[in-house]
Amino acid sequence: MPRYQALRGTRDILPGEVEKWQRVERIARALLDRYGFREIRTPIIEPTELFVRSVGGSTDIVRKEMFTLVLSEDSVSLRPEGTAPVVRAFVQAGLDRVAGADRLYYIGPMFRYERPQKGRQRQFHQIGVEVIGSDDPLVDAETIEMLLYLLEELGVSETSLALNSVGDAVCRPGYREALRAYLAPRLALLCADCNRRYEENPLRVFDCKVETCRGELAAAPAMLDHLCEDCRRHFDSVRSYLDRFGIEYMIDPRLVRGLDYYVRTAFELLSEQLGAQNSLMGGGRYDGLVKEMGGKDLPGFGWALGLERLMMLLPADRAEATASADILIAPLDAPARTAAALAARTLRRAGVRVLLEAGERSLTSHLRRADRLGVPLVLIIGEQEVAAGGYTLRDMRSGEQRPVPVSELTRLAEEILREA
Ligand code: HAM
Repeated sequence: MPRYQALRGTRDILPGEVEKWQRVERIARALLDRYGFREIRTPIIEPTELFVRSVGGSTDIVRKEMFTLVLSEDSVSLRPEGTAPVVRAFVQAGLDRVAGADRLYYIGPMFRYERPQKGRQRQFHQIGVEVIGSDDPLVDAETIEMLLYLLEELGVSETSLALNSVGDAVCRPGYREALRAYLAPRLALLCADCNRRYEENPLRVFDCKVETCRGELAAAPAMLDHLCEDCRRHFDSVRSYLDRFGIEYMIDPRLVRGLDYYVRTAFELLSEQLGAQNSLMGGGRYDGLVKEMGGKDLPGFGWALGLERLMMLLPADRAEATASADILIAPLDAPARTAAALAARTLRRAGVRVLLEAGERSLTSHLRRADRLGVPLVLIIGEQEVAAGGYTLRDMRSGEQRPVPVSELTRLAEEILREA
């Protein structure tokens, strides 16, 4: 076994696989652009306090899963999610005053110290979007529609959308009390974590994975039955837009999401093909978070898609298998190397993808390599070619060879690009 291994729950994305990631990112960027989203890149480390205030001190993410370092006096954490950093950046840069900066997206790694298993890592990646400044239910529906369109473009099917409303500052306190009243006589049957949740933030009991707790919660009151007039209207409106888009969903009154900042709309996209970690994407509305982070009282809405889980669902034929180069340049001896390097430079500057072979190799070994890599052309430069002031071009598919003078190199580049 090699002496050093990637840490448990982290992994390398190697050539061969990385092309699949690049393709997903390319398609996502192009699609998000069409919906008016602009990219934002925030640091991977943030003050720990940022996540305590936004995600919530009683959530599993903050209590158990953050990679936190204390450096001199400061506590900093690797970001476990992207919404809080984006909102922090939005407020810090005054993006509410910048035209077109209210629809943001990010692609990058997140960190949670969870027990690794299939589809669950300690370093994982998300594509996330945030829309800041509107509480219009159309934003919820449009952003969900965009998500499903993205999956369609990627060829991912058989997902199901779970939808709920988790109320707001008006109706949630009343619901919290109703839930507490339900839990109080059952505390002895609930786990220690749920007992703590009961005190701190009873809604979090729905995050519990313990079987007996789940059983006890089966008949618990649902937030949906306690929505205030405004939340009810908002939820109905989101639903009717989704209906008009022809988007199917199921209402899941138990869906509370593992983060505290949500109000009103909460949703997840599930896939049975993922196994135990069946959530492909999660999101919702977070009116109030911008203000909590020190900004204006602006509403927000967003979602984040887990890229490792998405990769598990991509159809195999969508993986791109392109050759790594258009042409391989094969110098046969030391004197030919300079001519080879100059030819490579000319071709690359003309836009051609060139593999320049270093070190001594025989012609047979060059050709074998081109064949293995699937490179369609080989430019051979040996003693004869140097003497004649040119090259020999071999077409790997037909095996045909023809001389190419140095002066014809640019034309060759044009030919290659046309074919590509
Ligand atoms: P989340 O539900 O915590 O939401 O994460 C979103 C997605 O990230 C999950 O559905 C899953 O695909 C992926 N994910 C989470 N943890 C792991 C893990 N340990 N390993 C692999 N994949 C994982 C959020 O993060 C919110 N910030 C989403 C959001 C954006 N809400 C509003 N805007």
